[in-house]
Amino acid sequence: MAVRLGDTAPDFTADTTEGTINFHEWLGDSWGILFSHPKDFTPVCTTELGEFSRAKGEFDKRNTKLIGLSVDPVNSHRQWAGDIEETQGSALNFPLIGDEDRRVADLYDMIHPNASDTLTVRSVFVIGPDKKVKLTLTYPASTGRNVDEIIRVLDSVQLTADYSVATPVNWTDGDDVIIVPAVSDEDANTKFPKGFKALKPYLRVTPQPNR
Ligand code: BEZ
Repeated sequence: MAVRLGDTAPDFTADTTEGTINFHEWLGDSWGILFSHPKDFTPVCTTELGEFSRAKGEFDKRNTKLIGLSVDPVNSHRQWAGDIEETQGSALNFPLIGDEDRRVADLYDMIHPNASDTLTVRSVFVIGPDKKVKLTLTYPASTGRNVDEIIRVLDSVQLTADYSVATPVNWTDGDDVIIVPAVSDEDANTKFPKGFKALKPYLRVTPQPNR
C-alpha cells in the first residue's frame, strides 16, 4: 500500500553498508530522509549518491539522517561505493540498504510495475522525529533528483513543524513566509513579533521567524 503524508513511516530491520539497522531506532530523535535507487552501477544513481554525500553536512545541520536503498545486496553496494568516490570525488558517508528481496521497497511502494517490474523508482520520504511522513517525492529512473530542492523542502517542512507558517511559491530559506489561516490576527501579533503584512485577510506574510 502507498505510504501517504501523515502516515507513520513503516519500520523495518535491514542490512546496510553500515551494518544491520532497525529504522525507527536508528532515526532516534532525528529527522530522516529515505530514498531509493533503481539499481547499483547505474549512471544517474552514481551521480546522486556522490552529491548527497557531498551535501551531508547540510543535512547534519538540519538534524537529518540520510539513508539510501537499492535492490542489490550490500556487498555490491560496497563495490559500487568505490566507483562513486572515484568518479564523483566524494565517498559514500551514509548507509545504503541492501534490499535484494525488495522487502523495504514493497513496504514503501517504491516499485511501480507500470514503470518497471524489477527496479524501484526514485522515491524520497522525509520523516519527522515523530516518525510521521512529512513529504514524499517520486521521480522516474531517468531523472536524477535535485539535492538543493530536497534541502529546500526539508527547510520548509521543518519551519512548518516549529512555527505556524507555510512557505509560498519558489520560497527559499530566508524569504518571507505565510501565516497559516488557522492563526487569528490577534494571535499572529504575539506569535510573530517582527510583524506581518496582510495583502488579503487570508494572505499574510511575515519575515522567517527563525532568522
Ligand atoms: C541510472 O541510474 O542511470 C538509471 C537507472 C535505471 C534506469 C535508468 C537510469
